[in-house]
Amino acid sequence: MFKNLLVTGGCGFIGANFIRYLLEDSDFTGRIINIDKLTYAGNPENLSGIESSFPDRYLFAKIDICNKDEVTKIFENYQIDSVCHFAAESHVDRSIVRPDTFIQTNIIGTFNLLEVARNHMNNIQLFHHISTDEVFGSLGKEGYFTEDTPYKPNSPYASSKAASDHLVRAYHKTYAMPITISNCSNNYGPYQFPEKMIPLMILNAFDGNPLPVYGDGLNVRDWLYVRDHCTAIWMIMKKGIRGETYNVGGSNELENIKLVKMICDILDEHKRLPDNHLRNELVTFVTDRPGHDRRYAIDFSKLKSALGWSPEESFESGIKKTIQWYLDNSDWIDRVKSGEYLSWVKEHYG
Ligand code: NAD
Ligand code: TYD
Repeated sequence: MFKNLLVTGGCGFIGANFIRYLLEDSDFTGRIINIDKLTYAGNPENLSGIESSFPDRYLFAKIDICNKDEVTKIFENYQIDSVCHFAAESHVDRSIVRPDTFIQTNIIGTFNLLEVARNHMNNIQLFHHISTDEVFGSLGKEGYFTEDTPYKPNSPYASSKAASDHLVRAYHKTYAMPITISNCSNNYGPYQFPEKMIPLMILNAFDGNPLPVYGDGLNVRDWLYVRDHCTAIWMIMKKGIRGETYNVGGSNELENIKLVKMICDILDEHKRLPDNHLRNELVTFVTDRPGHDRRYAIDFSKLKSALGWSPEESFESGIKKTIQWYLDNSDWIDRVKSGEYLSWVKEHYG
């Protein structure tokens, strides 16, 4: 099963955690071919040590999933038999300012990959597509997203992911491609690019900088520790019913303002600011994000009952681990914040 697994976007946050999990901690025995365009969000350092630890089982190529010829060469040169598709533009705020790259990578790129996979259908055991709960839109105070909730995406990011989900589903219905799709809630953990809420707040709070909370701060997200997402994906890839979608969630609903205050308290316990001010005082309410979804909450009972998956990490332990990871990895942070990793990529990959 899965001898030559193509992972797209493996140098990003979740992709890198997934590759580490598969090679270091799972029962996967095959080879991973990671293709990544290395956008601002793709950092090969997220996989440092992997190439040398697994020289026969890990390969990297800098490739844009929109480039059909390059992707075809990868399928042929490495006899790809399975795909786990992470590559995407992933930040809602960026999609509001410049939606074009989201349409290009998330829709056209996914279409391209599906086409190449269709051209190699005889070899393909699985095309697993990573998606988000944001395709379902926004919830009121009550209720949960299930796999049957109608799609109602509100941001250009969410709509581009919705479009890609529909394409993947259609390739199953029309061409009998063996696919699975997972729709996951907000992830957090090591290697997340510090434009997303949790790492942004950790780094700003640590340095004593303002903490920009959108609107009234009462928007709710369901948080999942990235390692738990990785175990869910691998379980779905191995045992999920082909053609089906699975919701993945953390059962950790939190209002943004509560989350920010929690981060402040943990950091205050660790080290007080030089002037002895509490970090909570850094909270700054700023203009709301246009189309800001009010609440996300996931019902993952299908994944739990069908495949026996549940998240292992509690939010209290996961957020402490994550904060500790950022405190312990100041070199990674410095290189990411200064853009030094981009110069490194340019030097090594052109
Ligand atoms: P990320 O932005 O950290 O990483 C995306 C990766 O894709 C980067 O390495 C980037 O270089 C690569 N990439 C972008 N465009 C590419 C292209 N055209 N060709 C090849 N590679 C390209 O994103 P992430 O947070 O790791 O998210 C990964 C996937 O999970 C995405 O599909 C996202 O929609 C989905 N997802 C994310 C979350 C979350 O909370 N982060 C939650 C649910 C689903
Ligand atoms: P984000 O990490 O961008 O994830 P998403 O928009 O995909 O859910 O944001 C999480 C929540 O935090 C969301 O409700 C927007 C809010 N937010 C802020 O209040 N301030 C910020 O600076 C950011 C980046 C997000």
